[in-house]
Amino acid sequence: VSVEFVHRLRFTRGALETQNPLLAETIAAGGPGPGRLMAFVDSGVAAEWPDLAARLEAYAAAHEGSIDLACAAIEVPGGERAKNDHSIFESAAAEIDRARICRQSYVLVIGGGAVLDAIGFAAATVHRGVRLIRMPTTTLAQADGGLGVKNGVNAFGKKNLLGTFAVPWAVINDGAFLETLSDRDFRCGFSEVVKVALLKDARLFMEMASRARRVAARDASAAASLLRRSAELHFDHIVSGGDPFELRASRPLDFGHWSAHKLEQMSDFEIRHGEAVAIGVALDVVHSALLGWLAWPAAESILSCLEHLGFRLWCEELLETSTLLEGLQEFREHLGGELTITLLRGIGEPRDVHELDGALVRSAVERLSQRAGAGPAAAAG
Ligand SMILES: NC(=O)c1ccc[n+]([C@@H]2O[C@H](COP(=O)([O-])OP(=O)(O)OC[C@H]3O[C@@H](n4cnc5c(N)ncnc54)[C@H](O)[C@@H]3O)[C@@H](O)[C@H]2O)c1
Ligand SMILES: [Zn+2]
Repeated sequence: VSVEFVHRLRFTRGALETQNPLLAETIAAGGPGPGRLMAFVDSGVAAEWPDLAARLEAYAAAHEGSIDLACAAIEVPGGERAKNDHSIFESAAAEIDRARICRQSYVLVIGGGAVLDAIGFAAATVHRGVRLIRMPTTTLAQADGGLGVKNGVNAFGKKNLLGTFAVPWAVINDGAFLETLSDRDFRCGFSEVVKVALLKDARLFMEMASRARRVAARDASAAASLLRRSAELHFDHIVSGGDPFELRASRPLDFGHWSAHKLEQMSDFEIRHGEAVAIGVALDVVHSALLGWLAWPAAESILSCLEHLGFRLWCEELLETSTLLEGLQEFREHLGGELTITLLRGIGEPRDVHELDGALVRSAVERLSQRAGAGPAAAAG
């Protein structure tokens, strides 16, 4: 069986301003006549952009040749709750059915990565898949989480246990949304920028490191090109990397994620994905240095970059190192096949390994504890 997909990524500003043709064109690309469309909006976005539903209605009216708006935009609780509370994707599925969205119609979802994942799961399963247009509204979702071909919800205490691979109709990154993010959520996407730079682009890492303090101070011009480059690297990996549906055991974009996913869970999702990724990357960077692979000055520059961005490279959950190490097994099960973890030989030089030495993980935890001044209890752990 061989199937061809088109994966579209577009960058714009003010996607719902009536004179911006992008969304209408994206829908018009699906065939003649207006495309039926319904929209879901993250409650965190709706709170900051109270006229979003009205804007969408005005937009659809101005582009009635391309868009047939099925109903008013529907609000979805934002954040990880969207993936933990299964009534949310179930009621989204019911709404998609009620709006008579078919396989040739569109679900537009505007929100952070969690809402994109939950609504994406509903859209991918109603009628076995209707067309999904994502408008990611966080730095993390615009740089990383919103660009891929995965969706899902958390189940039975595990992240993303239920979900599908489904290529969205389009992803539209609208930079204007980032202005209303909290500092905490604005920061979150940059751990993924650091991650992808460490894997694929040493120059991007240098730029990220040199601008980290400006990004932390919410300098939009310093941030924009970093996010865009990260998005492009991520997107290219999916489109040209040869394994969009992750059939192989290796998942290089998941550098730092075996522990990140576990830490999120262990903290009951108090730690955001981007924050957990910063810690997970730091842990595997130190691990790579302890192995004698990554030079210590390079490791130091990565840790400093993350700190300058404002990340704390420590959390109490790290002290439960045995539980943390269970994350390795869960990661293997999630991917299938042999355990494959990416470490670094240098900046921009990833290397897969098939086992991690628990003693080295513990030493890496200890280093992070000392660095964060987490105190004698932490050091003893
Ligand atoms: N499918 C994938 O391939 C993939 C990849 C990476 C991450 N993810 C998932 O993405 C999720 C994390 O997403 P996230 O970091 O975008 O955070 P998030 O979706 O949890 O959103 C964080 C908070 O920001 C609010 N918010 C969103 N946009 C806003 C805006 N423009 N203005 C004001 N508030 C806004 C939300 O309501 C929420 O409270 C995790 O569940 C992670 O597993 C998925
Ligand atoms: Zn991630």
